[in-house]
Amino acid sequence: MSLLVVEDLRLQYGSRLVQQDVSFEIEAGTIFGILGGSGCGKSTVLKSLVGLLAPSAGRVRFEGEDYWHASDTARDAMRSHMGMLFQSSALWSSMTVLENVMLPMSHLMKWPADECEARAMEVLGWVDMAEARNRLPADLSGGMKKRVGLARAIATQPRILYLDEPSAGLDPINAVRLDELILSIRERTQAAIVIVTHELPSIYGIVDDAIFLDAATKRPIARGKPATLRDEVMHPTVQAFMHRKEVETT
Ligand SMILES: Nc1ncnc2c1ncn2[C@@H]1O[C@H](COP(=O)(O)OP(=O)(O)OP(=O)(O)O)[C@@H](O)[C@H]1O
Ligand SMILES: [Mg+2]
Repeated sequence: MSLLVVEDLRLQYGSRLVQQDVSFEIEAGTIFGILGGSGCGKSTVLKSLVGLLAPSAGRVRFEGEDYWHASDTARDAMRSHMGMLFQSSALWSSMTVLENVMLPMSHLMKWPADECEARAMEVLGWVDMAEARNRLPADLSGGMKKRVGLARAIATQPRILYLDEPSAGLDPINAVRLDELILSIRERTQAAIVIVTHELPSIYGIVDDAIFLDAATKRPIARGKPATLRDEVMHPTVQAFMHRKEVETT
């Protein structure tokens, strides 16, 4: 059984359609890319997978269970197996690095404080941020914030990890470092990782399988391994994206 199965999802804000007919499956231990130009609906799809935006049609099955048609209790239980790094990192500015990482463990999982702290220090060690534990987000570089956000997302030992443009805004060295970190997290946890990214080195370097969302038709137009999308999908929008010709469709 696939860890996550998305069936014919239709997403809209009010009467405004963002994407329709979105279907894919993700197995544990794979890195799955959601690709497409700016504004095509990648973050919106993620929102519906982590429980922040109800689809207007279709299903999201997590470990076989229909997320959006489950009871509140069942939904909370499913949610506790998901981790999310938001596009903005979304750290709490008044909390230290350590407090930020502890928050989902203490509030969502209700783990005892000493366990939360021990686990927070463990994952901060993985992302090489343990020494910055008492600093505030305002005193961190963009790359450091992303690493803290990543530590926070993996702290609760999620079975699926959602990363919205984790390396956007990072210099190439830090972007490569973040990709290596993502691979090492996959090795350590065997979680499935869903990543939204525009970075071609990340796409070709770490993504196993991907879906390409089209802004013009508001539906997926390609599905497969990144090299397959590049070499075998002749749709001009996919070709432009996979070869990084600067053509945006929005
Ligand atoms: N809360 C909202 N209410 C109404 N429209 C929204 C909302 N959030 C996003 N949109 C619109 O939905 C569409 C998809 O937005 P979304 O943020 O999902 O795109 P994206 O592919 O993640 O873009 P980017 O690459 O810029 O992050 C856009 O046209 C956007 O303006
Ligand atoms: Mg986005």
